[in-house]
Amino acid sequence: MSKILLTSALPYANGSIHLGHMVEHVQSDIFARFKRSMGADILFVCADDTHGTAIELRAETLGITPEELIAAALEEHTADFRGFRIDFDEYYTTHSPENQALSAMVYERLRDGGHIVRRTTQQLYSAALGRFLSDRMVKGTCPKCGTADQYGDVCESCGSTYDPTELIAPYDIHTKTAPELRETENLYVRLTDFAPLLREWMETGVGQEPIRNFVRGWLDGGLDDWCITRAAPYFGFPVPGEPDKYFYVWLDAPIGYIAATQHACERRGGDWRDFWSADADAEIHHNIGKDIVYFHTLFWPAMLHAAGLRKPSQIHVHGMLTVNGRKMSKSRGTFVNARTYLEHLDPDYLRYYYAAKLGGTAEDIDLNTEDFVLRVNAELVNNVVNLCSRVTKFCVSRFGGHPGDFDPADYPLCATIAAAMEQAKAAYEAWDTRSAIRAIVEAGNEANVFFQDAAPWVLVKEDEAAARRVCAVALHAATSLVVALAPVTPGLADRLAAALGVEKLGWDATAPGWRPPALTAPDRLLDRIDPAATEAMMAASVETPTRTDVLDVESFSDLIPFDTFAAVDLRVGVVDEAHTVEGADKLLRLIVHCGKQIQVFAGVRKAYPDPSVLVGRRVVVVANLQPRKMRFGTSEGMLLATSGPDDVGLQLVHPDPSTLGGWTVR
Ligand code: MSP
Ligand code: ZN
Repeated sequence: MSKILLTSALPYANGSIHLGHMVEHVQSDIFARFKRSMGADILFVCADDTHGTAIELRAETLGITPEELIAAALEEHTADFRGFRIDFDEYYTTHSPENQALSAMVYERLRDGGHIVRRTTQQLYSAALGRFLSDRMVKGTCPKCGTADQYGDVCESCGSTYDPTELIAPYDIHTKTAPELRETENLYVRLTDFAPLLREWMETGVGQEPIRNFVRGWLDGGLDDWCITRAAPYFGFPVPGEPDKYFYVWLDAPIGYIAATQHACERRGGDWRDFWSADADAEIHHNIGKDIVYFHTLFWPAMLHAAGLRKPSQIHVHGMLTVNGRKMSKSRGTFVNARTYLEHLDPDYLRYYYAAKLGGTAEDIDLNTEDFVLRVNAELVNNVVNLCSRVTKFCVSRFGGHPGDFDPADYPLCATIAAAMEQAKAAYEAWDTRSAIRAIVEAGNEANVFFQDAAPWVLVKEDEAAARRVCAVALHAATSLVVALAPVTPGLADRLAAALGVEKLGWDATAPGWRPPALTAPDRLLDRIDPAATEAMMAASVETPTRTDVLDVESFSDLIPFDTFAAVDLRVGVVDEAHTVEGADKLLRLIVHCGKQIQVFAGVRKAYPDPSVLVGRRVVVVANLQPRKMRFGTSEGMLLATSGPDDVGLQLVHPDPSTLGGWTVR
């Protein structure tokens, strides 16, 4: 039997674990638990990704060293994963001696294989910071469309990508000063050397088909050389034999998979080469989000190949989590940290919900908070869990914990259960937890109907033996369903195991002849989700800007004479109507009463996905503006608005609701 190595992508150490990360870790953990339950030799590892500029600057903001920052992150992340019952065999860090030695080894083999080229380029350098600026450390005006304040890699407005040196009027986002161009020498991996090999590797079936299609596109389009060094200062590993050069974080990050394997092997016996050497009898599975496919399907296998190591056997790609249909956002309170969730809800709920939604594709998945409550309560608690409680309680109270014996051939439900077990196993094997859950829930429905119709509480009065048999069948069904759910809901499985008198529930307990060694009534298996708990969690996740965010004013305009100001007729108005505008996804059409009714087109759609919330609100209107003809109609005024957080955009300024309308604001 081959060994299996399973990894989740390494979370960055500069932030907390959030519910988006949990999609991946829950999915990996389900696979690991399932494989272990089948007796496989699987090692499940992960680590914190600790290097790079973002981490260094974050530490600086907090007034601590990067080492202190990553130590704190490691502790926090480990606790969060433990809270969600993610059962890693090893959770390590990329800032480790093993990783440094392995990174040097991989680099030297790339170099000795002739795959490294040296190149001098011009890059933006901030004299104020004393360092070269990465794409995300610089903003400026988009060279293509002229939109101001765009990052150095891509324009949010027109979507074009460019080099940071192409930005017009660039400024360093930390000091707001203009950078200069400086020459710098870096090392690059010549990726084209590996193109044929990458193609061949990928066509062995690595990644889901749509993902392979992407990779084919990249390969067909030609591969650029990949820059693997950064100039000092940089928080990372120095490049051997190259003073003042450090490995770019994405070089040592995936090597962290190997370092974590090595550390695990050192602790529990074994050799990391049993997983990673080219001829090892092992499967390597990576689980990643669709945003990091490029790194895992091009750079990473190329590095492994050059180093004479084993390439991944499979790359499982999942989509991104949205919350209530939209990208996670701090200001909207949908950016929920793992810790916040755990303060309000049982981890099994979310594990179940994710499992029920993940079909093994790279499609995005939505956490809809209403659906979450309804679905978990209906499918899990009211169905499987409820059956477990009723059956165990009845067996204990009526039969002293000893249900009878039965012949499975007499009960069609037994065939359903057996089939559901096989379906669930096949689905877990294929990373299709959605199908596994569906099979389990459908069998659970049938088992509930069986128990209800057979009504052992009535039957027992006439035929106790028959009632005992019915209970035994129902207990067999309930136990089997929980065994099948165990990779998804380990907490529930543990509590039922305790009630059945076993340490751990395994597939052996799904045999119709299996009887619990010591059945007691569980006092609590899993309660229904209280919607108030979900609401409280969301409320606790709303991040209000800090005083420094509020006061972070970049510049002041020139002074104006009082008369210029006095000429502006500012009034408090009331929104009578608010409509979206067909063909203009940034605009709202508002009818505002400010002594007279006027029509205003305002670019605030993003902040008000449901414009009807604005009706009745007080707004401040410039009431004496010359009307302007627009493509969609005439705009007869302007409204006071302020820039909100990036993902919300412009928000209207609202005077206190008790303010009288119509009058000039002075
Ligand atoms: N550090 C790199 C990975 C290095 S692997 C050698 C990184 N870190 S991350 O913290 O940004 O993301 C870690 C994983 O979490 C990635 O697989 C990423 O796709 C996943 N997710 C982060 N946000 C996510 C969602 N909102 N939804 C689903 N998964 C998300 O990338
Ligand atoms: Zn642009």
